[in-house]
Amino acid sequence: MENLRIPGPTPCPDEVLQAMTKQMINHRGPQFRQILNDVTDKLKQLFQTKGDVFLLTGSGTGGLEAAIVNTLSPGDKVLSVAIGVFGERFARIATQFGAEVTPLQFEWGKAADVETVRQALQTEPRIKAVLVTHNETSTGVTNDLASISSVVKEFDKLLLVDAISSLGSINLPVDDWHCDVTITGSQKGWMVPPGLAMVSLSQEAWQAHSKAKMPRFYWDFTAAKSYLEKGQTPWTPVLPILFALSVSLEMMLNEGLTNIIARHARVAKAARDGIKSLGLSLFAEENYASNTVTAVAASDGLDTKKLLRILREEHQVVLSGGQQRLDGKIFRIGHLGWVTEDDIEAVISALKVVLPQAGFRSAS
Ligand SMILES: Cc1ncc(COP(=O)(O)O)c(C=O)c1O
Repeated sequence: MENLRIPGPTPCPDEVLQAMTKQMINHRGPQFRQILNDVTDKLKQLFQTKGDVFLLTGSGTGGLEAAIVNTLSPGDKVLSVAIGVFGERFARIATQFGAEVTPLQFEWGKAADVETVRQALQTEPRIKAVLVTHNETSTGVTNDLASISSVVKEFDKLLLVDAISSLGSINLPVDDWHCDVTITGSQKGWMVPPGLAMVSLSQEAWQAHSKAKMPRFYWDFTAAKSYLEKGQTPWTPVLPILFALSVSLEMMLNEGLTNIIARHARVAKAARDGIKSLGLSLFAEENYASNTVTAVAASDGLDTKKLLRILREEHQVVLSGGQQRLDGKIFRIGHLGWVTEDDIEAVISALKVVLPQAGFRSAS
């Protein structure tokens, strides 16, 4: 079996895969109602929220679009706090739907600077919402969301959070940190295949929703809410992924959120220590290095494409390269969801063999 260590899709436990082979059921019937209610309750526990949580059929990007079109109107001013590819994507969606986006871009590999966010909010009082990526998968950086949130709330703005590669793996108490819309995706820490975006909403998000005029149909939260009250989704749900999620959430609650978060921290430390022991350096500033994805700088002659190919073909280890302007400059190890220190040890052992074959000359 491949050791799939990309930052999503992530490997799924056998029980989760098994669940997807179940026969289809009536998505307007009592059996579905029971599954949907149960999954929604469990998600609320893992989101650490008492607010609404919806399951949307689509990938994480669909969830980002849903967050924007449900809370904003064309012409609304939005502050985008971007530290990589996904932060920029969130901003592009808002622009596409007519928001006036003020981009606040930080150097890739670094976290957002909270004081700069404060200054931007001071400078432009008409900003209505702030877009933030909790965990920037493209650079392996986790923002200090608690501090960003307290600044955003000091100015009483709406906070829309891309938590696609953090929620369920890295601590994110949605209510305590006053996140108004929080988005995640099934293929990340949830140990489930791609196909579902999960989003939570605060009371403030509902107030914004009642005035939001951006065009929407498939993603409309009013429809999602009224159908959820009947134990349904407005449109035909991706049943096999829901069956899978039902099993994975049970596993996650059995392990316990605190233990899951601690496991991710341990595994990430093993990845970072292993990388450094090979003479490589982290791309992310270490204080903000992510516990779900480690980005490694390609230095000293390292050909990342060759590295990834040999790892895949000869060691069945699958890692990710860099995206956009980081192509060829970094490679990334995903360690979220169903992952232990042993999986990372196997990656580090394979890297030790392959790095010299891919041109890396260790300083040590
Ligand atoms: C932080 C972040 N945001 C957004 C996305 C986009 O999600 P999807 O590919 O499921 O649309 C990803 C996926 O890698 C991500 O990691």
